[in-house]
Amino acid sequence: MNKIELHLHLEGAAPPGLVRALAAEKHADLSRIFDARGHYAYDGFDDFLRVYEAATSVLQTPRDYARLLRDVLERSAEQGVIYTELFVSPEFCGGGDLAAWRDYLAAMIEVADQMRAHGIDSRGIVTCIRHFGPDRAKASALCAAETAGNWITGFGMGGAEAVGKATDYRWSFDCAREAGLGLTCHAGEWGGPDSIRQALDLGVTRLGHGVRAIEDDALVRDLVARGTVLEVCPGSNVALGLYPGWSLHPIARLADAGVKVTVSTDDPPFFYTTMRHEYDRLADAFGWGEDDFAQINRWAVEAAFCDTPTRDRLR
Ligand code: ADE
Ligand code: ZN
Repeated sequence: MNKIELHLHLEGAAPPGLVRALAAEKHADLSRIFDARGHYAYDGFDDFLRVYEAATSVLQTPRDYARLLRDVLERSAEQGVIYTELFVSPEFCGGGDLAAWRDYLAAMIEVADQMRAHGIDSRGIVTCIRHFGPDRAKASALCAAETAGNWITGFGMGGAEAVGKATDYRWSFDCAREAGLGLTCHAGEWGGPDSIRQALDLGVTRLGHGVRAIEDDALVRDLVARGTVLEVCPGSNVALGLYPGWSLHPIARLADAGVKVTVSTDDPPFFYTTMRHEYDRLADAFGWGEDDFAQINRWAVEAAFCDTPTRDRLR
């Protein structure tokens, strides 16, 4: 089945083998972030962020990012993904400097263009990182606004949801909106309904995760009325301990309530997941079949940050 993925962190999709190879080339010792089998090793969400940032530290040049993007898109294509949106951060690609960001972006766009010919289309969502604070987010938003175009089509925020309020980042979201970018924000993963309301107040059309809306019936009704699309990553939520098992994940209850849910992998090697694995586990847990998956992919196409000809092609 052809799949649409809306929520994939480029650095978080880095295969451990590639990160180890880059570390060896750069004489960096990253042994502390791997377990005995060579997988990423972390204990809980805060530690996950630490390991994620350590792995990212060996991605140091536009060429490294090009290599990473090619690897990630090849793996996604093998999963039947025909369109994917990737979170990329100028804060990791040149430290928020616009000239450096342009170099990283040019290298990534070259790969994205080549991979389109191999059956997978992609777009980049510039993401700021909440625990890096509003000032660094502004630098990212300015990079996003300056490079908004055919490939950079969205702006979002990830990182530690417990830090500050989403509305502390309003300037950045306004800047991105004025540049014509689509908006999404991680919320309702480690924060509850109030955190989701703050993200909605930024004017986003999509939420990264958003699943904890299930804790507030009025909020669920509001999401339905607004038509907000959730980028749900059930395997990520289960791996990070947000829900104790797939059958207890709220995705099916949200869908039954009329919320537009989509399915993505977030950071696949960290969570031992793939798009096929997500679909298989959802089929096992909730009896979802072809019609259910076709529906979530229709919602994903509707919510994608792409132009109309691309949307028509994906339909
Ligand atoms: N960055 C990468 N994965 C993330 C997640 N699950 N939540 C917040 N920020 C992230
Ligand atoms: Zn995410």
